[in-house]
This record gives sequence, structure tokens and C-alpha cells, in this order.
Amino acid sequence: MKPENDLLLRAASGEKTERTPVWLMRQAGRVLPEYRAVRAKMGGFKELVETPEFACEVTIQPVDILGVDAAIIFSDILVIPEAMGLPYQMIESKGPWFEKTIQTEKDIQDLRVANGEEDLHYVIEAIRLTKAALAGRVPLIGFAGAPWTIFAYMIEGSGSKTFSKAKKFLYTNPALAHLLLEKITQSTVHYLKAQVKAGADLVQVFDSWAGVLSPEQYDEFALHYIREICDALSPLVPVTVFAKDAYFARAGIAKTSCRIVGLDWTMDIAESRAIVGPGKTLQGNMDPCLLYADFETIKKETEKMLRAFGPQNHIANLGHGLYPDTEKDKVRCFVDTIKAFRF
Ligand code: CP3
Repeated sequence: MKPENDLLLRAASGEKTERTPVWLMRQAGRVLPEYRAVRAKMGGFKELVETPEFACEVTIQPVDILGVDAAIIFSDILVIPEAMGLPYQMIESKGPWFEKTIQTEKDIQDLRVANGEEDLHYVIEAIRLTKAALAGRVPLIGFAGAPWTIFAYMIEGSGSKTFSKAKKFLYTNPALAHLLLEKITQSTVHYLKAQVKAGADLVQVFDSWAGVLSPEQYDEFALHYIREICDALSPLVPVTVFAKDAYFARAGIAKTSCRIVGLDWTMDIAESRAIVGPGKTLQGNMDPCLLYADFETIKKETEKMLRAFGPQNHIANLGHGLYPDTEKDKVRCFVDTIKAFRF
């Protein structure tokens, strides 16, 4: 069924649209008091993610409250390591933590290749519920972490500024690194295909830690696997690849079968268009910190961004997720400015 508001999907496929569509990374979350209320009722973040009725409720909140042109299923990229055999905890104000990490060949052999429908049934069920509850109002975005970013958490066991343990593994155990990356890639393909089958209209691959790799490492350990995912999913739905802080990765990503290339705010818009070429849609790329500024500045800078991208082949977004201490009205100002703007 075609959504009533299909701006996102038309912009994704390069069609001309009446206006630029907008959604925000981390649009469901602590910025919304309504999210915090649902979250307070649950034991914690993981319970929310694992209870399809609640995941569905918070997925739809930003559509109602912020007026965005797409919903993104409420989940986390770390459900994949868990489905493969490494459970995570989300520690309040600290972030993710894994009790077991990957160090040896045996650790890798002990991991399962995840089966989307079974091992991640709670996400798949949340997608089915959300799709029904949205009743075609806006498209639903599915997502997964890129293999390198998931690998980084599996080796490191938590967040890190440098991900030096994960990078050390690439330099000291390249063959084992490929074995693990391939297993993650297979799991991710199964998972994203199950998301599409359940109703996801577009999928985004988040390579949040791409920027810690050298360009050569990126080609060998990240891009290769992203290409596999794009080739498996692109025949089904448009695929977005967002490689944060990896300005050097744009050219390689542009050569994959993805439809949309995500940009962070450090990437120049005109330069990115020249690198990516005219055939793909760009997504982004406002600095989330702009939303700490006054309303007038937000409006002015947002319009400047829209003009720089131009009237076609653009999906407006931030250059990374919303920060939790952003005021809701400032987020609305960003969204409303985009929705009111005409070329
Ligand atoms: O609205 C959306 O964008 C959908 C939901 C979503 C979450 N995580 C919910 C979440 C998405 C798309 C993600 C992806 C994700 N998770 C990424 C890739 C995007 C990025 O930010 O680079 C990464 C690296 C993770 C791993 C992760 N999850 C970290 C490092 C943290 C802790 C930091 C933080 O913001 O608290 C999380 C927790 C998390 N994931 C929260 C939310 C709403 C906050 C948890 C809470 O409610 O307390």
C-alpha cells in the first residue's frame, strides 16, 4: 500500500516533490516528554525496545507531535549482537555495555547467524503493529548498524572515543576480522529482509564509527560489507547508507546500489553532490547543535541548507541524532521551516 504522504519515497527515488521531506535521526526519544512518560512506565530502554506495543507507541509519537514525513522503528543497532549471542545492557547515562566480547576465533565460531523473523521477533512484531497503526499516514523506516560499527561494539564491549581495541583487531587479526564481519553481514541481511517483509518502506544502514578508520581500512573492512547489504536489499526497497565522519567514504558509497547517501554536518553539500554524482538522493545534514540557537537563527540556517541541496534529490535531516537536551519547540521550528519552504 502506498502511504498517503509519500514525499520521502518519491524524493528517495529522485522524483520531483512539492517540497523537501523531513525526518530526524533519534526523533523518538528523550526530546519528547511523551517518550519519557512511556519510558518511565517501563523498566528501562531495553524493555521498551522489546515490548512491541510500546515500541509502536513511541515510534508514532514524532509523527503526531513533530509532524515529520516518516516514522523510524524504535529499536537499537545493538539488537544484532544480542541476536548473535552477545547480550547488551543499556546503562543509564553511560550507554551500551556488553558483558561478553569477541576476542578469539572460538568466540566467533560460537556466534549464531541471526535469523530476523525468529531471533528478532520483537522488532519484526513492532514493525507489523506500527505499520497497521500508521494506516498509511507516512512511510516507515527500518534500520540496522553497518557491519563495521557492530563489529566495533562486539570487540570493544562498550562505546569508546577511539575504538582502538576494535582497530587493533583489524591490524592483528585481519582474517578473523573478515570472518566476524561476514557473519554480522549475513545476520544483518536476514534482519533487514525480515523488516521489509513486515512493512519497512525504506531501510537505513548506520555506520556511526566509520570515521575512526583510515580510507584504506574503510574500503577493506567496511565498504565491502555495506555493498553486500545494499545488493541484497536494493531490489526490495530504497537503501540509505550513513557513514558518520567518513568524508572519504562518500565516493565508494556512491558506487554501491544504495539510493540515498547520508551526510553529516562536516560534509560540504556542493562537494558531496559532486562526489556522489547526480543520480542519488542526499540526506542530511544540519548540525544538531543548531537547535540550541534562537528560532530566527534556526529558520535562517535551515533555509540556507535547503537552498544548498536544491529542490530535488534531497531528504532533510540532521547530520546526526538529536541531542536529548534539545527543546521540543526548536525541533518543531526546524521541521516547520522545511515544510513551509518552497523553491
Ligand atoms: O528515533 C530513532 O532514530 C530510532 C531509534 C534509534 C535508537 N538508536 C534509539 C535509542 C536508532 C536509529 C538508534 C541507532 C543507534 N544506536 C546508533 C546509530 C546512530 C548513531 O547515533 O550514531 C548507535 C551508535 C546506537 C548505540 C546506542 N544506543 C548508544 C551509543 C546509546 C547511548 C547513547 C544515548 O543516546 O543515550 C544508545 C541508546 C539509545 N538508543 C537511546 C535511544 C532513544 C537512549 C536511551 C534512553 O531512552 O535512555
